[in-house]
Amino acid sequence: MLSDRSILVTGGSSGIGRELVRQYVAAGARVLTTARRESDLLETIEGLDAERAYIVPADLGSRTGRELITTEALRIAPIDVVVHAAGALGPKAKLADYPEDAWHEVFHINATAVHLLHQQLVPLLSPTATIIGVSSSVGRKGRGEWGMYAISKAALEGWLEVLADEWAGPVYSVNPGGTATPMRAEAMPDEDPATIPAPADIMPIFLRLARPDPGHPTGGKFDARDHVGTDPWSLARTES
Ligand SMILES: NC(=O)c1ccc[n+]([C@@H]2O[C@H](COP(=O)([O-])OP(=O)(O)OC[C@H]3O[C@@H](n4cnc5c(N)ncnc54)[C@H](OP(=O)(O)O)[C@@H]3O)[C@@H](O)[C@H]2O)c1
Repeated sequence: MLSDRSILVTGGSSGIGRELVRQYVAAGARVLTTARRESDLLETIEGLDAERAYIVPADLGSRTGRELITTEALRIAPIDVVVHAAGALGPKAKLADYPEDAWHEVFHINATAVHLLHQQLVPLLSPTATIIGVSSSVGRKGRGEWGMYAISKAALEGWLEVLADEWAGPVYSVNPGGTATPMRAEAMPDEDPATIPAPADIMPIFLRLARPDPGHPTGGKFDARDHVGTDPWSLARTES
């Protein structure tokens, strides 16, 4: 269903981003993914069609890293879909105690780097490319002790709203909801990961929104959990 789609996924070395890469490639797309840890990126694409799965080890936080991503992204240009899945958690702390270094770092990765990468990618995007931001429940409604993580995801929501008003293609926000990944384990160490969805469970909405005919107007905000167990291709079948 995604054959001939060209997709860039950030944060592909782990968790949700890793699952996105695998499922997009399995659905026929050509996917370029990026993160800092090269060995984990290689693990992500192990067993996938080498002609359709590319990696770029790079730090999104640095200009050099973002330039490297843009250079390598030429391999899959024009890009049809970008999923900004990389994210930094930072410490769980009250605002009164929140460390200044983490304040800047988490905002930089979750908000500023998304914007700067988008700016660099524009010449490589198809004119109606789909842009998907991976948000969070605490970005839609702040919660104590989530600090700059919550604030930066709220900023990401704002960025997506502005972009939806400017960009010719669809722009979406997807809140995964609590999902069993290394980030979630760090945020909620007492939680049993078996009690929450795995990354594979929350894929339907990400697959649906990556189609050429996502069937949703730009600016849409989605909760991935609402779509668990649904058929991402069902709308296409109804329409055909
Ligand atoms: N899991 C949940 O419950 C949940 C809930 C709501 C929202 N989210 C969001 O979903 C997205 C994926 O999270 P996850 O749970 O899958 O987390 P994860 O397993 O910790 O993955 C985070 C990814 O971000 C990458 N990343 C972090 N800093 C980076 C940097 N400076 N440069 C490049 N890549 C960087 C990491 O790669 P490297 O470390 O290799 O660089 C990794 O691939 C995030 O945006 C997160 O905020 C998750």
